Amino acid sequence: MSQQNLESLDVGAIRDEFPILEREFDGQQVVYLDNAATTQTPDPVVDAMSDYYRESNANIHRGIHHLSQEASILYEEAHDRVAEFINADGREEVIFTKNTTESENLVAYAWGLNELGPGDRVVLTEMEHHASLVTWQQIGEKTGADVEYIRIDDDGRLDMDHARELIDDDTAILSAVHVSNTLGTVNPVSELTDLAHEHGALSFIDGAQAVPNRPVDVEAIDADFYAFSGHKMAGPTGIGVLYGKQHLLEEMEPYLYGGGMIRKVTYEESTWGDLPWKFEPGTPQIAEAVGLEAAIDWLEDIGMERIQAHEEEIARYAYEQLESEEDVEIYGPEPGPDRGGLVSFNVEGVHAHDLASIMNDHTIAVRAGDHCTQPLHDKLGVPASTRASFYVYNTREEVDKLVAALDDARQLFA
Ligand SMILES: Cc1ncc(COP(=O)(O)O)c(C=O)c1O
Repeated sequence: MSQQNLESLDVGAIRDEFPILEREFDGQQVVYLDNAATTQTPDPVVDAMSDYYRESNANIHRGIHHLSQEASILYEEAHDRVAEFINADGREEVIFTKNTTESENLVAYAWGLNELGPGDRVVLTEMEHHASLVTWQQIGEKTGADVEYIRIDDDGRLDMDHARELIDDDTAILSAVHVSNTLGTVNPVSELTDLAHEHGALSFIDGAQAVPNRPVDVEAIDADFYAFSGHKMAGPTGIGVLYGKQHLLEEMEPYLYGGGMIRKVTYEESTWGDLPWKFEPGTPQIAEAVGLEAAIDWLEDIGMERIQAHEEEIARYAYEQLESEEDVEIYGPEPGPDRGGLVSFNVEGVHAHDLASIMNDHTIAVRAGDHCTQPLHDKLGVPASTRASFYVYNTREEVDKLVAALDDARQLFA
């Protein structure tokens, strides 16, 4: 992308669509740098959801009345829009869940519990989010399958030699995070998926931190399963996506049972409906699906390449500013093609929670803790870190405020 196109991103106009960014606490405007946890929601997304409630609200797939038909169409079309956005073959490959965590659990329970046993191997990475790590650990315990972790090197990149060692003919599934929510590392997911396939294994890619800020093409990655959350991509909470290759989803048993997912029920037995409804029992997230579709429209209007470029530019600036502070330690690779839009760090002598609390005194929202990667923090040798994570509406000035606030923390704690 040329510099000219990058410059044409009008952050001021984008910010106008987020009234929440105007909020003040104690006379200071909020600086929102907690986007890896949840992004803010632009007006068009909020409007789409309130329009839905005002004009089209009804339960789906059950009524023959106008409103139910309209709601059903909106809900179904949201699947088509997601499929188009990630280049899936169609709505059959797009299952709406609550979030990335539920998408992980769906595959772990519906596929893992039935397919895995002693002697099988599940390969994760040392930088997995608990959503994947804890889930597969539990499935390992229940089935007797071994769970192994691809090591990271000192720069926070995957050790691909170790990956080649671990992914062998006993490997049944590889589950890897696309972009690490702690290190910012962008993993070579196509290469990992190819490795898995060479050994007859499946691949699950956790795209919670990738889909919001870069073009993602599940067909190009050749992932068997791919997961993400609406609330991290300018969409609503309460909706996530599990992409799965159609033939795999067809072979899998349902994960949850109930109404809306069946074909025929007798007192003795039941058969299952078509994809994706087979995996979406009960009344689903209809308004949230409408909101997710609006979020995708909003993101694509800006352009995913431009969003990625802006976020990486802000993250690079933050990295450089923080790196120039002698007492700051940053985790993860240096800025470059394999680093995404967040920076986790520690200030010598200051606990991450104290730092976040000082930041909050300046109305700067950052996250402190283990970011749901406890084993990774153990490996890094720190109990916690502070994470500043960026999105399309963040500015360099906001990064400057973050860096300036470090002095207060030093004076109080270091
Ligand atoms: C990489 C990664 N995976 C999974 C999750 C879980 O997402 P959710 O809480 O929406 O299920 C997160 C959330 O922070 C994440 O960053």
